[in-house]
Amino acid sequence: MSTHSVDVNPTECVKSVDASCSVSEIDEYDFSRFPERPRNLNMDRDRQRSFDERSLVDLPCFSPPVSSRADNISRIDHFDSLPFSPAHRSGFDTPRSFGHEGSPMMAEAWDALRRTLVYFRGKPVGTIAALDSSEEKLNYDQVFVRDFVPSALAFLMNGEPEIVKNFLLKTLRLQSWEKKIDRFQLAEGVMPASFKVLHDPVRNTETLMADFGESAIGRVAPIDSGFWWIILLRAYTKSTGDTSLADKPECQKGMRLILSLCLSEGFDTFPTLLCADGCCMIDRRMGVYGYPIEIQALFFMALRCALVLLKQDAEGKEFVERIVKRLHALSYHMRSYFWLDLKQLNDIYRYKTEEYSHTAVNKFNVIPDSLPEWIFDFMPTHGGYFIGNVGPSKMDFRWFCLGNCIAILASLATPEQSNAIMDLIESRWEELVGEMPLKVCYPAIESHEWRIVTGCDPKNTRWSYHNGGSWPVLLWLLTAACIKTGRPHIAKRAIELIELRLARDSWPEYYDGKVGRYIGKQARKQQTWSIAGYLVSRMMLEDPSHLGMIALEEDKQMRPPLRRSASWTF
Ligand code: GLC
Repeated sequence: MSTHSVDVNPTECVKSVDASCSVSEIDEYDFSRFPERPRNLNMDRDRQRSFDERSLVDLPCFSPPVSSRADNISRIDHFDSLPFSPAHRSGFDTPRSFGHEGSPMMAEAWDALRRTLVYFRGKPVGTIAALDSSEEKLNYDQVFVRDFVPSALAFLMNGEPEIVKNFLLKTLRLQSWEKKIDRFQLAEGVMPASFKVLHDPVRNTETLMADFGESAIGRVAPIDSGFWWIILLRAYTKSTGDTSLADKPECQKGMRLILSLCLSEGFDTFPTLLCADGCCMIDRRMGVYGYPIEIQALFFMALRCALVLLKQDAEGKEFVERIVKRLHALSYHMRSYFWLDLKQLNDIYRYKTEEYSHTAVNKFNVIPDSLPEWIFDFMPTHGGYFIGNVGPSKMDFRWFCLGNCIAILASLATPEQSNAIMDLIESRWEELVGEMPLKVCYPAIESHEWRIVTGCDPKNTRWSYHNGGSWPVLLWLLTAACIKTGRPHIAKRAIELIELRLARDSWPEYYDGKVGRYIGKQARKQQTWSIAGYLVSRMMLEDPSHLGMIALEEDKQMRPPLRRSASWTF
């Protein structure tokens, strides 16, 4: 591990907030109560809106699809007309009132979140992964890029953007380090998985230490970090209206470096990104190598965010064109080949194999015998989802939460597919939500398969940790997806479940068991993203206009000309 010292930018101190109501007191949403047009608060924000409104059709390399369905008016169109986040209220130092008295759990969560703040030379730069002193620290005393996302959203929603700005600038500096694993030098654009502040009490100095995968268990570089970084930069810009951060030459360069990594040409025949196992939230061997949905959905979202943030100057223009082309190919590929519903399942069940040439229906030569038993019962009549992975003769039929929620938020899923994903969650509530939201993936792998796929990993035994464990952090993604699809009642049900146990159990990292009834075997307590995820869910449900920070409208130009199956046509 290498250590370097870096300067920081000034920031303000964070402030505490008030308690709020319990979720059961929150009324159902009436989307009609939001104004037709966003409030125009200032010039900067107007400019930033026009950023977000840049559509693929405005770009030279785009040719529109054959058909567009003007009749398809979905509820997701509403959120863009919601007002900007109230984080812009003038009195930042006034504790936010949630309009109701007494939710000790919210107050406790805010206190707990503030205790996790990590300072570098006097400025907050992130939040530690977990504050549990009873377990071995390993790397839970570090600031993880992916773990900081819900913390960042909570601070943005609460009108405290400075820590987010510091984090973005600090991680950008880390990106510029020379990174090596043994004698092999990593690409320039790689963002760290995590970093840590080292204090030297004798010399009274502070230095940063970052991990790009060279210390991580399994030695895998985090592909998701760079994507989350871009997504967070857009969330910051959207929430504050401050375009000056994204416009900085170093931010533009940071984005270009990340993009050159994932847009580079190689031997690929698919527009999806080829990944090693363990390169994302599931950071251990779990059979997610190849083209995992989590990375493909984050890739899509990061590309869309970069499209609105990149300047169209001499250097940026080329990237914008490459992004547009890739988005088209990627959305087509994902919507066609990763999508599974009853109709599609039936088609695969009847697939012929060994087809050659362009006329092949079973393009990847998937053998119907590889369909797992559980999928036939799991698939509801109405509903569908993006499966875990698609590659040559490979379909991983497992349902992964993060990828499906991000697909909804980024509008990688069409409105019909988004609705179908929510239908599936509703009809398979017991399996996917159970007693503790939310399964990281479903189902667990067991016995011989577990031995082969995980390499006998004792942490990932069936229904534990990454192997079918339940992760409270995923609640914020579900809540955002629920609001975007106009189904806040689903999120409300999930939050009610979390409120029964999460604080009482001291905010565990994950739960074990088929319905998530048991605190995870090796789960950390006081896990920051469990705390922040809860806060973000509650704040979003309270004020759905926050959704705009983390969701992108459907780009109607990317609508598919074809209807593949029943769940696309409500
Ligand atoms: C575990 C999780 C990973 C997370 C880290 C810190 O390794 O799998 O996603 O970032 O803990 O909380």
